[in-house]
Amino acid sequence: MSLPFNIAIDGYSSSGKSTLAKKIARKYNMQYIDTGAMYRAITYYFIKNDMIHDYGIDFNRLDHHLNQIDIDFNYDVNTEKSTTILNNENIEDIIRSPLVSQNVSVVSKILVVRNKLIHLQQKKGEFGNIVMDGRDIGSKVFPNAGLKLFITADINKRAERRLKELTQKGYDVNLNDILQNIKKRDYDDSNRKYNPLIFTDDAVLINNSDNSINEQLTFIDSLIQQKLKNYENNN
Ligand code: DC
Repeated sequence: MSLPFNIAIDGYSSSGKSTLAKKIARKYNMQYIDTGAMYRAITYYFIKNDMIHDYGIDFNRLDHHLNQIDIDFNYDVNTEKSTTILNNENIEDIIRSPLVSQNVSVVSKILVVRNKLIHLQQKKGEFGNIVMDGRDIGSKVFPNAGLKLFITADINKRAERRLKELTQKGYDVNLNDILQNIKKRDYDDSNRKYNPLIFTDDAVLINNSDNSINEQLTFIDSLIQQKLKNYENNN
């Protein structure tokens, strides 16, 4: 089964958006797109090309470099693994590194970067059946999404989840640094000038501090079924 509309998932860092998005994609045979990975990919590219300095971004070289960037995804529905590809290089692991996490806010607030990515994201969603997660999906990328979810969780739980994830990948990190990074990104995401993270009135709020993935999925399933009925009645 596939869906005739797109699903927009927004929310705070490390709130479990991508885990939910992948499960939904698998169940409904949808394509999953991780827009955070796209901002991370550009951040990685800028770091690699020495474009991020203490005084900020090297704006003189921005347009030239943005034109060199091609981002794609390989998503395996069976393993639920999404791989981010930047100019033919598999960058899935490196874009999750603390160095990229620390620099992604400064990159994601640049208007030309956002416009480039929003355009790519909207093209991918032209024909529906996309589940996309990020910060501005329901408000900017797909304002007409068939279902909009806004995910949040207690900040300490989010930091613990991230610590577990990074430790499993072999990074030497501590809970306090992660907590500070998440706090900073929450603030930057919600307060940036262009397309900040906002809760739109038509989104469904899910606080998953104390809910298992399966509990959340059962609830989301009922929302999808309801939206599907409304969609069929109106089309
Ligand atoms: O979801 P994530 O933590 O991988 O996202 C990394 C950063 O990218 C996040 O701090 C803000 C930015 N981002 C954004 O500005 N807009 C999106 N649609 C997705 C992510």
